[in-house]
Amino acid sequence: MKKIGIIGSGTMGRGIAQVAATADCQVVVYDTNATALESSQQQLEKILNRLVEKGKIDQAKSDAVINNISHATELEGLAGCDLVIEAIIENLEIKKSVFQKLESIVSVDCIIASNTSSLSIASLAATLQKAERFIGIHFFNPAPLMKLVEIIPAIQTSADVTTASKAIIDSWGKLTVLVKDTPGFIVNRVARPFYGESLRIYDEGLANTATLDWIMKEIGGFRMGPFELMDFIGNDINYTVTETVFKEFFYDARYKPSFTQKRLSEAGLLGRKTGKGYYDYSEGATKPEPHKDEQLGKTLFNRVICMLINEAADALFWNIASRDDIDTAMTKGVNYPKGLLHWADEIGIAHCVDTLDELFDTYREERYRCSPLLRSMKKNNELFY
Ligand SMILES: NC(=O)c1ccc[n+]([C@@H]2O[C@H](COP(=O)([O-])OP(=O)(O)OC[C@H]3O[C@@H](n4cnc5c(N)ncnc54)[C@H](O)[C@@H]3O)[C@@H](O)[C@H]2O)c1
Repeated sequence: MKKIGIIGSGTMGRGIAQVAATADCQVVVYDTNATALESSQQQLEKILNRLVEKGKIDQAKSDAVINNISHATELEGLAGCDLVIEAIIENLEIKKSVFQKLESIVSVDCIIASNTSSLSIASLAATLQKAERFIGIHFFNPAPLMKLVEIIPAIQTSADVTTASKAIIDSWGKLTVLVKDTPGFIVNRVARPFYGESLRIYDEGLANTATLDWIMKEIGGFRMGPFELMDFIGNDINYTVTETVFKEFFYDARYKPSFTQKRLSEAGLLGRKTGKGYYDYSEGATKPEPHKDEQLGKTLFNRVICMLINEAADALFWNIASRDDIDTAMTKGVNYPKGLLHWADEIGIAHCVDTLDELFDTYREERYRCSPLLRSMKKNNELFY
């Protein structure tokens, strides 16, 4: 049995703690805020009660999960852990200071991991004396429900630490994918055009939000449309992820954020959590009707899906992850109806290249440059699968 430490009992920390405790690990959760610890405990009890009511687990399992979790208000409580996963505020300096202190508390063999979404794993590892023990372990929200976990070794991480970390997370029933330490890892990088290209089309006035949501759901088979999803995630959070990826990629035009979303964030129109974003969630508000034009739908869907495929192909071109891991990440991390590389084969590599080239010719923007991988595949008549 492994002893797992979790730093931070917010949205992610409490979810990861539940996952580890359900997999029979002893879990110690540390948070500087005692109220956060208390509320995470109450929320966990609520979740487990609901699972018992629904017959998903029995009372004995629920009790065992509760018993497996203990709380600490001092970092020293994490002594003796085999693996510590940090899930605190997304701030490099604060995370660094926590890791430095942690290293003097845990044993030399303890693996130290961060759940960061946007910081470089190399920069976090560099704060440790034993950098080879550090790794990125990126869960998705809500951690107990989302199958995917991205495993991100830094250039300093030892192969043994990568193998051991992957084995632990696999043993928790998760699906792990291995990713190079690059901005957005797989999911937050490859998914950018789902939001970005939809916003671009909206900004050009080619379709309204309801129409674009209808297109992506009806024609694309996505569970939620991009604007519904951005309102659900929160425009502030979604905007920040895009801006971070854009900056971290040395301002690559492909990831350029949208003023529409920036202004919504600045105005506090964050989506569901504030009652208004692209849509109005107040009582009695009516949702705009989509313009259900099949031909327009097909054209605009083609534009978004080819941009998504281009991003997935380029991630493969740059060896960010394997073909299978890129497809798994998008189907299991963000519930895409199909893996994007599978999708590319289905709609035709040549068709994707031609669509991107046509967009590039029209706009003369770097944003629409086709991945060299797609271009060479077209030339050689190759498929991803
Ligand atoms: N929320 C998501 O959807 C999501 C998804 C994947 C990854 N992440 C990443 O996970 C991390 C945590 O995000 P979150 O949404 O759970 O945050 P959150 O704000 O919900 O929770 C953070 C918790 O950390 C505690 N904390 C802050 N500073 C601390 C310190 N110095 N020591 C101990 N505890 C401290 C806070 O009291 C709070 O309870 C971030 O790095 C974020 O980028 C978030």
